[in-house]
Amino acid sequence: MKFKDKVVVVTGGARGIGYATALLSAREGACSVVCDLDPDGVEAAVKAIRATGATALGVVGDVSDRSSVAENVAHVIAEFGRIDVLVNNAATQVPAPARELTEDHWRRELDVCLTGTFFWSQIAAVESMIPRRSGVIVNVGSGAGLAAAPNTASYVAAKHGIVGLTKALAVDWGQYDIRVNCVCPGFTWTELARSVSEARPEMMKERVSRIPLGSGAQPEDVANAVCFLASAESAAVSGSVLSVDGGTSALSSGYSAPRDGT
Ligand SMILES: NC(=O)c1ccc[n+]([C@@H]2O[C@H](COP(=O)([O-])OP(=O)(O)OC[C@H]3O[C@@H](n4cnc5c(N)ncnc54)[C@H](O)[C@@H]3O)[C@@H](O)[C@H]2O)c1
Repeated sequence: MKFKDKVVVVTGGARGIGYATALLSAREGACSVVCDLDPDGVEAAVKAIRATGATALGVVGDVSDRSSVAENVAHVIAEFGRIDVLVNNAATQVPAPARELTEDHWRRELDVCLTGTFFWSQIAAVESMIPRRSGVIVNVGSGAGLAAAPNTASYVAAKHGIVGLTKALAVDWGQYDIRVNCVCPGFTWTELARSVSEARPEMMKERVSRIPLGSGAQPEDVANAVCFLASAESAAVSGSVLSVDGGTSALSSGYSAPRDGT
């Protein structure tokens, strides 16, 4: 088992990729901690993980609020004594043309996606990982952290920031045996993606046509990559960025992926 007796915290763990990661790490032996803004979601996720016989703890909090993060970290340490693995997955994204972005909109996406990743990393490192000279952080970035999608300037800026923050923390904290890596999912079939697909099927068809493997990832595909980077299997990997996008970022712009032997 990859995480036997390890304490694994997943922010934004109530649903989607975060939930798939919390569930998989629990199956791999972890004490799985689900942190999320949504109390009902936390309760349901913890119940579902415990129903598999695994150990789970729920903590409700807002990653963008430093005192909330400090409370969450203290709660986890009071319960389990340490944090071995931190997965910074929580994010929010509301598309808007750059010229119409309000200050509040800009700040909210930067605060949740980027500053929240920094708060959790810093407090978990200072309170547990640095004193214990051990820890793993996996940040969930995005294809939008490697190249821009239209009408998502604040999300794109935040996700590019996560790639930079991953490298900076890997450099600063390697001396404490803390590894920091980033997974960049491409289009992934979460609830949000399904609702966009139903609302705008043509746009979704166009996006899928640019995925060389021919379909979006499942949340479990991304969770597998996160768990690889979180486990001892990647002991020598730090400061890396792993795309889980079916080959999308390998395709030159302007092209669709070839089909039927063309
Ligand atoms: N689904 C995709 O196609 C896709 C593609 C690229 C990157 N990603 C990234 O993967 C991650 C997960 O995506 P998803 O599709 O599962 O998202 P989702 O919207 O389904 O889930 C996000 C979770 O984060 C929680 N959350 C939001 N703001 C929070 C806050 N301030 N504090 C604590 N929790 C908060 C939400 O309540 C929710 O449970 C995100 O970082 C996202 O940017 C997703």
